[in-house]
Amino acid sequence: MNLIYMPRDEIFSIIGGVWDPGQTTPVHDHLTWALIGVYDGEEREALFRRTDDGSNPKIAKIEKVSEKINTKGHVTVLGHRGIHRVDNISGKPTINIHVYGRDIGHTERHSYDPVTGEIGRFVSGYCNVLRDTILDESSSLRIQISFKRTLRYFSTARLGAELQTRLGTVRPENASTAMASEPSLSRIR
Ligand SMILES: [Fe+2]
Repeated sequence: MNLIYMPRDEIFSIIGGVWDPGQTTPVHDHLTWALIGVYDGEEREALFRRTDDGSNPKIAKIEKVSEKINTKGHVTVLGHRGIHRVDNISGKPTINIHVYGRDIGHTERHSYDPVTGEIGRFVSGYCNVLRDTILDESSSLRIQISFKRTLRYFSTARLGAELQTRLGTVRPENASTAMASEPSLSRIR
């Protein structure tokens, strides 16, 4: 995933990505609100929710809430507790646009084994941002981001230009409202 834009206060980040046929994600969370749009192509998205109390940091009980094919123009709205998995099961690449309520590429978040419930931890990073991620002995995460202050603004070729044009009027304080007017919408909190 490529960082297209993030303001200096890092209160949101706009991400663009291309999913190749067969590409998939683990079941995962974002630990912030998320707008997940399909710019072109189609994606299969499964939404999950935790059914436990969250007290065990290593094991979660999750259940699938829904699964459907999202096509061009669809936007999924996820709350802070949203959990999902996305696959490209089509024969063509999919272009997607995501907006998150934080610096998502440098956020430690969780993956979930849908069978065992085992919770993993990961930091996705950005394909177009240099960084080093270090897990220390106590497994607390420290992130050293090289050039973070100077490489804040990105435009990934034509995709970036198109995304910035289309999303230029969306402000973080009304992003949910703006996206809620999209014709195809799913929501989980
Ligand atoms: Fe996601």
